[in-house]
Amino acid sequence: MKWKRILKWSALAILLILFAWFEFAYWTSSNDCGRSIPAGSERMKAIRYCEYGSPDDVLRLEQVEKPVPNDNQILVRVRAVSLRFFDGGMLEGGIGRLIFGLRKPKNTCPGSDFSGTVEAVGRNVTEFKPGDEVFGVRAGALAEYICVRQAGAVVSKPTNVTFEQAASLPTALVALQGLRDTGRVKAGQKVLINGASGGVGTFAVQIAKDFGAEVTGVCSTKNLELVRSIGADHVIDYTKEDYTKGDQRYDVIYDLVNNRSFSERRRVLKPGGICVLAGIGGSGMHKDTLFNMAGALTASLRSKFAKEKFVTFGVDINKKDLGILRDLSEGGKVVPALTKTYPLTETAAAYKYLETGHVQGKIAITIE
Ligand SMILES: NC(=O)c1ccc[n+]([C@@H]2O[C@H](COP(=O)([O-])OP(=O)(O)OC[C@H]3O[C@@H](n4cnc5c(N)ncnc54)[C@H](OP(=O)(O)O)[C@@H]3O)[C@@H](O)[C@H]2O)c1
Repeated sequence: MKWKRILKWSALAILLILFAWFEFAYWTSSNDCGRSIPAGSERMKAIRYCEYGSPDDVLRLEQVEKPVPNDNQILVRVRAVSLRFFDGGMLEGGIGRLIFGLRKPKNTCPGSDFSGTVEAVGRNVTEFKPGDEVFGVRAGALAEYICVRQAGAVVSKPTNVTFEQAASLPTALVALQGLRDTGRVKAGQKVLINGASGGVGTFAVQIAKDFGAEVTGVCSTKNLELVRSIGADHVIDYTKEDYTKGDQRYDVIYDLVNNRSFSERRRVLKPGGICVLAGIGGSGMHKDTLFNMAGALTASLRSKFAKEKFVTFGVDINKKDLGILRDLSEGGKVVPALTKTYPLTETAAAYKYLETGHVQGKIAITIE
């Protein structure tokens, strides 16, 4: 009896502490929006958002302080930024508040996948010099200038693509690592890519082809031609056909949507096949997002007791793989499927398109 009471009061105390912590964290969550630019410092244009909300309501083109590189950094004049899944979810907050800031976004400058020209280098920088063209990943890229660590996720730009295409390349990390490291795709294998027409999917089709696989892409009617044009051997229109009901069996399913059950997908995997749980549907939050997320979790748990493996995958943004992508691009093995570009002043329109979850290939913002 006494123990029951102790347990009850302890649980209540823990709940109260958690609630108080959450309230404290929420109300102290802040950002640098109120900070004024120090007198005498140089300025630049940047996209900012100080509150969570819809792109039209919260995104602003503002003058902010121009960054100055430290000894180990390069100053990049940004020429293009490509939007991707991650960007699509952060403006509205939602569940992302746990990462981006509970009440207000901590990082007020969105965008991350960039390309541009090196304007200046820090004292210890040996890899780059002013005038070099580069691409990479750096939070807060939707600005005229950004500072990037020499050792960070930045490499020289492929010579055969535009700045907008180069800014699209970092998304291909998700495809490269998911297929190579998690799916362990080998020449001759049958690979199905669910969500083949989006930012990651269009790269996945090309990279799986480069690995020598026979590739089937799943997309909607309007994207069949796009997915064929980037090299898919077969296409399945998901508005007319369910890939889990067909006769074909796959060595690897690279799943960017996760809208089919464990048993349905297992049925079309060859014995010992792998399903790479790489995504939960197109960018933005949709009515199916949480359902797809839960599906991924249960599938990976259930596969612990099966021969076929369902493996969750998280991208590792690193310089080495960016270099591999540069080489694939220069060799013509991977061509970013860029379908639309926007000027910086129309960033909100680009975000709104991204958040529909039905973007064709990649979209990028040009910074002039
Ligand atoms: N694991 C990681 O580290 C990591 C990193 C980045 C992204 N991701 C994941 O990758 C996924 C895709 O990202 P993304 O950048 O490619 O997004 P995106 O560019 O917004 O992809 C949108 C694409 O998804 C397709 N799609 C939507 N519903 C579909 C369905 N039911 N069946 C087949 N295709 C469907 C759309 O085609 P239609 O218009 O034809 O419907 C559209 O082309 C995201 O869910 C994200 O979680 C994972």
